Parts: sequence; structure tokens; C-alpha cells
Amino acid sequence: MTVDVLTSWDGALCSARYDRETGAFFVIALHSRSRGPAAGGTRARHYGSYADAIADAQRLAGAMTLKMAAADLPMGGGKSVIALPAPRDEIDDVLWRRILSIHAENLATLNGSYWTGPDVGTSSADMDVLHAESGFAFGRSESAGGPGSSAPSTAQGVYVAMQHAAAEAGIHSFEGRRILIQGLGAVGMDVLQLARKDGAELIAADVDEERCARAVRLGASIVDPAEVLDTPSDVFVPCAMGGLIDAGVAAAIRTAVVAGAANNVLTDPAVGDDLARRGIVYAPDFIANSGGAIHLVGREVLGWSTEEVAAHIDGIGATLDDVFGTARAGGISSEQAALDLAAARLAAGGSPR
Ligand code: NAI
Ligand code: PHE
Repeated sequence: MTVDVLTSWDGALCSARYDRETGAFFVIALHSRSRGPAAGGTRARHYGSYADAIADAQRLAGAMTLKMAAADLPMGGGKSVIALPAPRDEIDDVLWRRILSIHAENLATLNGSYWTGPDVGTSSADMDVLHAESGFAFGRSESAGGPGSSAPSTAQGVYVAMQHAAAEAGIHSFEGRRILIQGLGAVGMDVLQLARKDGAELIAADVDEERCARAVRLGASIVDPAEVLDTPSDVFVPCAMGGLIDAGVAAAIRTAVVAGAANNVLTDPAVGDDLARRGIVYAPDFIANSGGAIHLVGREVLGWSTEEVAAHIDGIGATLDDVFGTARAGGISSEQAALDLAAARLAAGGSPR
């Protein structure tokens, strides 16, 4: 591995640790602390290489900086990646518990410069352990005194984003509209339930057959995961992994709206221009998926009630309306308008709260 992955990054600190006993490789990337301590979830999965794991942590940490700034939360951006020695579902409970303890040691070493939370491959129960052993984890389960998982709030925010992006595309009701959801995990399944109540025609894909079966029971039809990007829809909702939409996909995808939870869904900001040129309304991911961050930081740092959290999640709609308005007025993409909004907040320094 070369050091390019480190020298090409603009973040504040990137720490790494390999543990021989468990075979796990731990990365914590602190992108920015200019608005407050860095915060962002712990992603645990198997990677093709340690360089991939470092690059993923760095990209995701950068997205957290943008997310916190766009949501006007008093935190910076960071992310943890645990590159597992095997896929997550092949890691047994004893090994996982040991891996969590090592991650907790790493969090304790950073001593509050970085706060973690749930992400792909980790849960509220894992946050209970990390918090008990380090003191620096958001999103503990309610029985352990926390506010619970971020996923339901993320889904709520994604749904608000879908509605506002659809309105920007001239779609004012989901009744009978084709909504295509990629990824039926914690967020995607909740989004499906919300869209179902509004009478949408639901199409979904997941690599996990049990999750697909559940979606069918909720009234969805299933497409093969390999065919998602060829399936026409009114609203496409990516809720699996990032790096999905590159220039080729943006040129071919048949939808009016893209609004989902996946972090870093565009391979590059310029892909936002490609979507805009085709008249596809894109809800920038770091705004559309900020409901979870609003829930965790709102409840655990700012002391908000559940009602205040819900009101701020609704505010994602107003933020997107501003972004769409700025994009229209300036002849720029919504992605660029969102990046400009976050940059202005970061340049202004600390949060007003
Ligand atoms: P999850 O791990 O519960 O769900 C992801 C789902 O995607 C799983 O069901 C998995 O089987 C499926 N999947 C993976 N590869 C796929 C493929 N190629 N095609 C179709 N399905 C595939 O994760 P969660 O929490 O639902 O998050 C989804 C996305 O949203 C992730 O990218 C995450 O980083 C992002 N996100 C999550 C937040 C949260 O609060 N949970 C907050 C903000 C972003
Ligand atoms: N991992 C989630 C996200 O990407 C939730 C999260 C937010 C976790 C803030 C920690 C801190 O938004």
C-alpha cells in the first residue's frame, strides 16, 4: 500500500490500527472539527484492501462535515471504518465483541475529538458497548439511556427529501407513482413503509432474499439487484451503498428524481451537472440523509425533545427548496448549490447554537 491514500486527503487526522488477534483493521478519519467535535458512524464490513477501507473512511468523514454544516449542527465530520477479516454475517459474537472493545479503546484514545454512532454493519446495541467502554458513542438503545437508532429518523428525512425533490420535478403526489428503492435495510424498509401509505407503486431490490420477501408482503414488487439501474421509475431511492451514480449511469438512468440515504451516491460532484442537464432532480445525499444526524446530535448534544427533532427533520424540505432555488437561479446543479451552502456555513465558523 502506498501512502497516496493519506497524502491526497484534505482532512484533519486519519488514524489506523491493525489487530493481529482479531484480524480487524480499524480506521478513524477526522475530516473537520471546525464546527465542533467530529462525528459520524462506524461502518463494519469486509473490504478488498486496507487502502479501500482508509479511502472509504476518508470520503465518508468528508460527507459528514458537509452534512453537519448543511443541517447547521454544531459538530464536525468524522467516520470509523472497521475492515473485518470476513463478511459481517460470518463474524461470530465473541469475535465481534472483542472487535468492539478494540474500537472502544481507539475512541477513548481520541478522548472526545470524535464521537461515533451506528452505520452499515453496526447497531444501537453495539453503541451501548462502545459507549460503556469509551463514553463517546451516540445512538445507544433506549434501554441503555440513549435515543435509539438513527435509521427511522434518516428514513423520515429521506421521505421529506423525496417529496420536495418530486415537487421540484412537478410531481405533487406519490399516488400511483413508481418509487424504486435500492436497499431494504434499516432505512430503505422504513422508506418503503412511508411510501406505501401514500399509495405509491413500490419496486424494490436487495441482495438479501428475506428482506425482499418482507417487501413483497408490504406490497412491493422486486427487481434483480443487477437490474436496478435499468428499471424506470418516477423516484429512485438509493438506500444501499455509495459510489453508485457515475457519468454513464447519469446519462442512462430513467427517472425524474433521485433522493435517497446512501452516502456519497455520486462518484463525483460533476455527475450532479450531468443529472441536472437531463432535467433529473437530485436531492444531494448529505442533506437528504441528514435525519439520523439531526436525531442523534439533536437528542444527545442539543437536548431536543422528539418533537423538536421531528420539526428539524421536516426542515430538510426547506433546506432542499433553498438549494433547488439557488440552483435554478444560478444555472448550477443542486449538488453544487448544496456544496456552496455547506461551504458558506463552514467559512462562517462555529454553529450559532
Ligand atoms: P443497512 O445495512 O441496514 O441496509 C443496507 C441494505 O442494502 C441491506 O439490506 C443490504 O443487503 C442492501 N444492499 C447492499 N448491497 C446492495 C445491492 N448491491 N443492491 C441492493 N441492495 C443492497 O444500512 P442502512 O442503515 O439502511 O443505511 C443505508 C445507506 O444509508 C448506507 O449507505 C448508509 O451509509 C446510509 N445512511 C444511513 C443512515 C442511518 O441512520 N442508518 C444515516 C445516513 C446515511
Ligand atoms: N451513520 C449515520 C450517518 O451517516 C448516522 C450518524 C450521524 C452517526 C451522526 C453518527 C453521527 O449520518
